[in-house]
Amino acid sequence: MLTERKSLITGNWKMHKTLAEARALAREIRLGLPVKARLEVALAPPYTALAAVYEENYGSPICLAAQDTYWEKQGAFTGAISPVMLKDAGCRFVIVGHSERRQIFGETNETVNRKLKAVLDTGLCPILCVGETIEQRQAGRTLEVVTAQLREGLAGITGLSGENLVIAYEPVWAIGTGLNATPDQAQEVHGVIRRLLAEMGAPAQSIRILYGGSVTPDNAASLLAQPDIDGALVGGASLKADSFLKIIASAG
Ligand code: PGA
Repeated sequence: MLTERKSLITGNWKMHKTLAEARALAREIRLGLPVKARLEVALAPPYTALAAVYEENYGSPICLAAQDTYWEKQGAFTGAISPVMLKDAGCRFVIVGHSERRQIFGETNETVNRKLKAVLDTGLCPILCVGETIEQRQAGRTLEVVTAQLREGLAGITGLSGENLVIAYEPVWAIGTGLNATPDQAQEVHGVIRRLLAEMGAPAQSIRILYGGSVTPDNAASLLAQPDIDGALVGGASLKADSFLKIIASAG
């Protein structure tokens, strides 16, 4: 990884953790966090635990992330949460376009684009997730799918920088399956994403590209050693302080 990009390890807790559990996990992570200048850590608890995790990590270098957002600022949108609310709750990052949102909740590149614009307008940093399904990979369509997700997701957006955009490459077949992409497979797609960002006029060398999909303490170091892998988006292994801290220890 180039020295100008700090590693970012993000824990995506998905639909896990009560308030008490969230506080306890955030505290354990805070207490075990190594001091590394070239490393950032973010936690993405469910909405209900954002404030508690913010309080628990207040004054520590751990950043808060949300798992999703709606694109409107406020209004009659029952059940929705806006980027303004997320900023108010202490978030710095917002995950947008996670494959579970795309597959289970019908998110499209167009809705992802609206969310990205809203997140950026609010001054928060989106973590834009892209990645192919197993069928798409087997059909040789990985790069085509990822390219469309990036181009359509970022359509009409200017002013991108290493401070206001993070990309996460998460092959859908690797999420929660125990089947991580090999470091070579991941690096290939990360390299393509960086070239695409450059083609789109974004400062590609400053933008962090995370890998996600069955990252564990055992495979983190070899993935993070790849030149275009700047961090990890960790699901299952972020739910326990011990395994998440081990992944953090192999970064930065
Ligand atoms: P996983 O999830 O680490 O459990 O595979 C990653 C993610 O969905 O962000």
